[in-house]
Amino acid sequence: MTSHPRLGVNIDHVATVRNARGGDTPDPVRAALIAQEAGADGITAHLREDRRHISDGDIDRLMEALTIPLNFEMAATEEMQAIALRHKPHAVCIVPEKREERTTEGGLEVAREENRLAHFIAPLRDAGCRVSIFIAADKPQIEAAHRIGAEVIELHTGAYCDAHAEGRMNDRDQELGALREMSAYAHSLGLEVHAGHGLTYETVQPVAAFPEIMELNIGHFLIGEAIFRGLTPAIEEMRRLIGEARA
Ligand code: PXP
Repeated sequence: MTSHPRLGVNIDHVATVRNARGGDTPDPVRAALIAQEAGADGITAHLREDRRHISDGDIDRLMEALTIPLNFEMAATEEMQAIALRHKPHAVCIVPEKREERTTEGGLEVAREENRLAHFIAPLRDAGCRVSIFIAADKPQIEAAHRIGAEVIELHTGAYCDAHAEGRMNDRDQELGALREMSAYAHSLGLEVHAGHGLTYETVQPVAAFPEIMELNIGHFLIGEAIFRGLTPAIEEMRRLIGEARA
């Protein structure tokens, strides 16, 4: 295990701002290169079926420009599989996608479509991509992710972060307990454990402190914080907090 988790910076929301005006700025690839320079260990980008933020061209340019790994988030569709197989990014994170949602609201229901997902991820693994499955901190989902041959799971921290933001401290502690217990359980099965969604300076440390967590993927808060203090200082502070949590 590493001394502290890797930080993957999600740059989707730079593209959200760009697309609000339909032009070329702000450029998510420029943000990715600044994040790389600021010490991010990887870049995460979600090519949604509706292309509401990241575009196909952004993925082409990220693959070309980055020297750190790209974690390509996508729904389990044939179109996305073909794009991933064309680019062969370092990692592919399979997420659920609903058109009406504002962001990835829940984890993937792996247990419900185990056979299909096992067939879906096999070519991605064969192509050399590390396949990660984004799921809730839920034992049956973890066991199903393990059975289909995923090497990595990413635990959804959204419910924990929402409870914190809304001041529901009992719920927050319960969600955190589930994340802690399920990180250890997934690790005991041989899965690499990542976590992400909704993490902020206030919520990152208790999760970063779990010894099994190898990577945290953080986007919306960092891009928002960059408005006030700049992207490099925003990322540096997140890295500092993550390192402090594990120290
Ligand atoms: N991990 C996954 C799998 C996600 O879908 C997202 C959101 O796109 C994130 C991490 C980052 O979440 P946030 O933008 O809330 O930090």
